Amino acid sequence: MRQSGRIVRQVLDHVRGLVAPGVNTMDLERAAEKKIEELGAKPAFKGYYDYPCVLCTSINQEIVHGIPSEKRVLKAGDIVSIDCGVVLDGYYGDAAITVPVVEVAPEVQKLLAVTEASLYRGIEAARMGNTVGDVGAAVQELVEANGFSVVREFVGHGIGTKLHEEPQVPNFGTRGHGARLREGMVLAIEPMVNFGKPGTKLLSDKWTAVTEDGSYSAHFEHCVAVTKNGPLILTE
Ligand code: CO
Repeated sequence: MRQSGRIVRQVLDHVRGLVAPGVNTMDLERAAEKKIEELGAKPAFKGYYDYPCVLCTSINQEIVHGIPSEKRVLKAGDIVSIDCGVVLDGYYGDAAITVPVVEVAPEVQKLLAVTEASLYRGIEAARMGNTVGDVGAAVQELVEANGFSVVREFVGHGIGTKLHEEPQVPNFGTRGHGARLREGMVLAIEPMVNFGKPGTKLLSDKWTAVTEDGSYSAHFEHCVAVTKNGPLILTE
């Protein structure tokens, strides 16, 4: 899983470097598909419940599962979440980043910084003996202390020889509640944070989740192993 995690990171680093005004999200998709092949892995999302692409690219008020398209052209001030999964020798890796296109408004910059920081709070809580509620609470507390909100309808997940395994890993919760974390578990922790209210809706393409209030949304994700020596990030 360290190897599949490293490949996901290499793909995201490569694609991040291509983000610029005038670039469309299908350009990012094509670059990612080529990179995954070069690195000897297989995409994890393409064909999963008939999802058509290797990336999810979600712009501005889109939360997750945006489908790459030539019609979606990035412009300065946008934010784009890039989510990628791969499988190598049967083991999955899954990670996401949200990237500003050139310069974004200061409050949007703060949304990105808080969302990424909340992911690291969640990772810190991914320890043997803790529960998934400890992870969710850690994420939620930082997000809400900064006046933003966590999405309820989409959650993180266990990951291993399947993309989605038990347990579900919500970005909200109560300390001490939920499944207990054991040595060797791997969690995909993925806060989805809305600038405004937490509500979501699904577009007619049946994939793209957007904020109900139209506010911007950010998304960062890492796969994290629970070990004797504490949390180990596999997608770094
Ligand atoms: Co995931």
